Amino acid sequence: MSGETPKKLRDTFKKKLEAAKNLEALEEVRLDFLGKKGNITANLKLLSTYPIDVRKELGAELNKLRMAIIDDLTKKKEGLEKEVLLEKIAGEFEDLTLPTLREDKGCVHPITQVKSELANIFSKMNFTVEEGPEIETDFNNFTALNIHDSHPARQSHDTFYINERDENSLPFLLRTHMSTVQIRTMKRDKKPMRMISMGRCYRSDYDSTHTPMFHQIEGLVIGPNITMGNLKWCLQNFLSIFFEVEKVSMRLRPSYFPFTEPSAEVDIGCKRTKENLMIDDYDEWLEILGCGMVHPNVLRSCDIDPEEFQGFAFGCGIDRLAMLKYGIPDLRTFFETDKRWLEHYGFKSLDVPGFMLGEKA
Ligand code: PHE
Repeated sequence: MSGETPKKLRDTFKKKLEAAKNLEALEEVRLDFLGKKGNITANLKLLSTYPIDVRKELGAELNKLRMAIIDDLTKKKEGLEKEVLLEKIAGEFEDLTLPTLREDKGCVHPITQVKSELANIFSKMNFTVEEGPEIETDFNNFTALNIHDSHPARQSHDTFYINERDENSLPFLLRTHMSTVQIRTMKRDKKPMRMISMGRCYRSDYDSTHTPMFHQIEGLVIGPNITMGNLKWCLQNFLSIFFEVEKVSMRLRPSYFPFTEPSAEVDIGCKRTKENLMIDDYDEWLEILGCGMVHPNVLRSCDIDPEEFQGFAFGCGIDRLAMLKYGIPDLRTFFETDKRWLEHYGFKSLDVPGFMLGEKA
């Protein structure tokens, strides 16, 4: 190839560049000029055949031209790529009506679910939902509830004690039942009152139906003419709604609690098949909760005059309610934080503000 002047080379390049309308054509132009056999490359090779002074001048010009060509090619390439992209976007159709991908949001634990259900049921009966601390005084957990120092119930509660002591020099403890919140609320609020409290309680116990930490719901109604009849109606209503049956079969069995008099244990009628436990029909009784009329000593320890007000109270394991309603056989699995268990027994959150009622996952 004979040498071409840099000016001529530049003019041919400009024309060809102008003519290149797509990326493939542009690549051809690049090869024509900068490729191994390209024009510029060939002319640079020819340089060695020229005398030194020509070589110097022409070499510098050719190199300048080469840089300018690289520059032009890069700019044009960017422009063409942008055009291709815009064309592609213009041809695409975005369907904005398609549903979004559901995020993996985790599940509602059966305990949380049952607590929401209970709060819902009792708030419709005008009960307030009260809270209290898990670390309690000996007074609130025992003495105020008519369980004195020497009372055997203190032993049967298998209490966890804490090293620190309260103002009566008695060790603090982890509450063994939710009755502590009843005491706190009775001392604090105006009477008459209706309340439930739900939360964690602790006793040193461990088998398929007992864990050292468990959940209880306790209810309390204080008023001027409260009777066992009110108690029975309240429980029947609650259990029927909770187990989603028209009217749960129920019996009160005489029992003993230091804080209620008379006291009773409540059984509900049920029928067991191989896989299921049914509550709408029955051939056997299942113990479900403890209850009774609040003992006058308990009222007195909360500055309530037993002549003026009476009350009923009940207490029930939330974990047990969840096991029965949702067919979960072993209590210990509730607290093993196994994600597969939760995906099986948990509930999808419906994102309902306020009460977090889920739907079966
Ligand atoms: N506090 C009792 C318990 O934990 C339950 C109970 C509450 C019984 C209220 C009767 C009345 O065992």
